Amino acid sequence: MAKILVFYYTRTGNTEKMANLIAEGMRLVQGARIDVKRVPGITAREWLQYDALVAGVPVYYGMIPADVKQLFDESVEFHSQLQGKLGGAFASSANVGGGNETAILDILHGWLIHGMLVFGDAMNDHYGPVSIGEPDKRATDVCLRWGRIFAETAVRLFGETK
Ligand SMILES: Cc1cc2nc3c(=O)[nH]c(=O)nc-3n(C[C@H](O)[C@H](O)[C@H](O)COP(=O)(O)O)c2cc1C
Repeated sequence: MAKILVFYYTRTGNTEKMANLIAEGMRLVQGARIDVKRVPGITAREWLQYDALVAGVPVYYGMIPADVKQLFDESVEFHSQLQGKLGGAFASSANVGGGNETAILDILHGWLIHGMLVFGDAMNDHYGPVSIGEPDKRATDVCLRWGRIFAETAVRLFGETK
C-alpha cells in the first residue's frame, strides 16, 4: 500500500498551491493514494494511517509555524509507530535565502526522530520543493516532478494501493 498524506499550513495560499501541485504530480503515479489536508484540521494521530507523510509550511522566522510544531509535539504519544515510513517536506518563503531550507530541515529532523526514511532529490531542490511567494514556473515544475518521484518511491517501498 502506498497511502500518502500531504498536509500543509497556509495563511495566504502559497503553500496550499504548492501542496496541490505536489499532489498533482503524485496522482500521475499508478498505485499511490493521495490525501491532501490543511492544518489546522488534522491530528497527528492521523499520520498512523499513512505509509508516507509530506508536510508543507510557510517559513516563519526561518522555522515552521506553531500549528505544525504542535502536531510534532502531539506525536510523542505514539512515538516509534512511524518507524520505516517515508517522509518529505516543502516550504514557501517571501525572500530568497528567507529560510526555506532551515524550515524544511526542522520537519525532516522530526521525521528522522520518528525513525522515518527521509526523501531527498539529487536533481532539483535537494531538501524538498521551495517557492518564493506564489509558485512560479520553476517552482511549479519542481513541485510536479518532486510529487511524482516521491510517489514512485512510496509505491516501490510499500506496493500499490488497489
Ligand atoms: C509570522 C511570519 C513570519 C515570516 N517569516 C519569514 C521568514 O523568516 N523568511 C521569509 O522569507 N518569509 C517569512 N514570512 C513570509 C512567508 O513565509 C511567505 O509570505 C509565505 O509565502 C507565506 O505562505 P502562505 O501563503 O502559504 O501563507 C513570514 C510571514 C509571517 C506571517
